[in-house]
Amino acid sequence: MGAMSGTIRKAVFPAAGLGTRFLPATKAQPKEMLVLVDKPVIQYGVEEAVQSGVDNIVIVTGRGKNAIEDHFDVAVELESYLEQRGKTALLEEIRKITRLINVSYVRQGEPLGLGHAVLVTQNLVGNEPFAVILGDDVIDANPPALKQMIDVFARVDGPVLAVERVPHEDISSYGVVKVDESAGNLGRGVHRIADLVEKPRREDAPSNLAIIGRYILTPDIFDSLRATTSDRTGEIQLTNGLRHLLRSRPIYAYEIDGVRHDTGNKLGFLKALVYFALKRPDLAEPFRKYLESLPTLSTSSR
Ligand code: UTP
Repeated sequence: MGAMSGTIRKAVFPAAGLGTRFLPATKAQPKEMLVLVDKPVIQYGVEEAVQSGVDNIVIVTGRGKNAIEDHFDVAVELESYLEQRGKTALLEEIRKITRLINVSYVRQGEPLGLGHAVLVTQNLVGNEPFAVILGDDVIDANPPALKQMIDVFARVDGPVLAVERVPHEDISSYGVVKVDESAGNLGRGVHRIADLVEKPRREDAPSNLAIIGRYILTPDIFDSLRATTSDRTGEIQLTNGLRHLLRSRPIYAYEIDGVRHDTGNKLGFLKALVYFALKRPDLAEPFRKYLESLPTLSTSSR
């Protein structure tokens, strides 16, 4: 353990998936750029990383993802336009995020799975622990979700996966962990993992603890991912890489204290949109009034 033990400096954002659940919106526009109120989904995750003390952002992109790079780049013409017209508040708003982070990009030539997306970041991540944030999962939490996980990581000194208890009927959409009940009390919401399985059948699920889109990983994951073969769909799954890693070190699960929205599917996105609009001081009141005025709402059951 070096002096840097416990600190996380880099966050990987895999964003090379095809977003098929959101077609046709995602045909020419990445799902990471779908807008929640006035910010693209991925910016929520980037701001969470920054608020958790992590400002080196590594984004894994693929074909058709240029809008993400443009979004985090300096927009010279736009900035001078706003400056000339004295629109300083807007100028500050768009400058803030580019100034706060140091972004690198790496291409995943083919979408060969989340595990493969993490593997292609090895040169940029190097030999240190790092975070993985799936931007689709937008988490409203205080302290920020990633910060909570970094605090757990500092204590357990091993990989930490964010988990959430999900309804039985949804469990087959997730990686699922089996908890090691003999591990004793590791702190609130912290479990030691005995096993993990990607998208089990309902009847085979070892628990209702589903892996969600936040991970703190150690650099030995890269060797494990290299040793992991593709599944039936031709993808290298991160869950399977973690299962390999579990043979050589303890891995932990942590139940985040916060509200998560899966914006990668239509219903989840709509819920997130309403949730965040209602949290905005400038929009909450008129928006709530509008929602209450909808005839379909006042007649429907609760
Ligand atoms: P998803 O399972 O949400 O897949 O990926 P997807 O392809 O993006 O979306 P659907 O299911 O077709 O609608 C989880 C995360 O992993 C990234 C995605 O961008 C998303 O953030 N990913 C997935 C990659 O970066 N590369 C891949 O090969 C697969």
